Amino acid sequence: KSLGTPLAMLASLLLAGCAGDKSILDPAGQAARDVAMIWWVMLSFGTVVLVLVTAFWLYTFKRKEVTRTPAEERKIARRWIIGGGIVLPVASITALLAFGVPTGQRLLALPLGEPPEVIEVIGHQWWWEVRYPGAEGGEVVTSNQLIMPAGEPVDFHVTGADVIHAFWVPRLGGKIDMIPGRVNKIRLEADEPAVFGAQCAEFCGAQHAQMQLYVEAVARDEYEAWLANRQIDELSALAENDQQHEPAREAFMTHCASCHRIAGLSSGGEGPDLSDLGSRTSLGAGIMAMEEGAVTRWLQRHQDLKPGNKMPPHDDIETATLESLGAWLETLTP
Ligand code: CUA
Repeated sequence: KSLGTPLAMLASLLLAGCAGDKSILDPAGQAARDVAMIWWVMLSFGTVVLVLVTAFWLYTFKRKEVTRTPAEERKIARRWIIGGGIVLPVASITALLAFGVPTGQRLLALPLGEPPEVIEVIGHQWWWEVRYPGAEGGEVVTSNQLIMPAGEPVDFHVTGADVIHAFWVPRLGGKIDMIPGRVNKIRLEADEPAVFGAQCAEFCGAQHAQMQLYVEAVARDEYEAWLANRQIDELSALAENDQQHEPAREAFMTHCASCHRIAGLSSGGEGPDLSDLGSRTSLGAGIMAMEEGAVTRWLQRHQDLKPGNKMPPHDDIETATLESLGAWLETLTP
């Protein structure tokens, strides 16, 4: 009875990786299925090896002493070295390679007949910049959200802005490093429309664990409509919406515009683009859900919620101003 609780805790810990929006064991695309398959094959193979080695080890306790001539000893030793030291490893590694190489091939962004959609993802401490260079009507820039077409291959071109990060959507495929000064490419495909969790997978500083992203795969026409809504003219019109937000716009220009871009108002700098902030599902790179009042809470408490992030504290700005800023930013929904 007293063992029940620790056992249940251990079981939930062990099984925690089997489900959820960041589980490699719940693949939603071919590359991820291959990765999961490699895991199961390696786990099964490792289990067989463990059982065999343990059995041999136990056998040595029970074995009776036998006397052999030195020649017989050498013969037996040679058999073990050739069999267990050369043949077995070569055979098993070759088999694993046969699984691994096609998987690696599928992740490579090799030329396709029909060039796939390209999405650029840039890692920052600690947020994600996402660019759509192929959007009809001009490049679309956003941050901390990634919308991709489902049912077709998408090439992700990734890089880092400051330190090395890694882009990882576990349910779609393997990780890829985001290295400053270099563009790495990975091809991923989502079978069906769904939302997937993504995570920075390379330690990049204090808030590495809080560098999360939601990847939303949508149908092709929905994807194109989403892009069209984020064209600069559309976003500019949004930023210039009704007069009641004029004080908030002024506060933005005074306190935020040198770092943050809002299409039609400011070209920004180091910080994330905010042009369509109201339409995102989370804030602070996955730290809190977007809901009424969330932006204001974030503006007030962001250094408690995500200590060390590069936005300075807003203690010098009046609460009423932060509230009006938050309320206005939440209206930026194309
Ligand atoms: Cu970015 Cu870890």
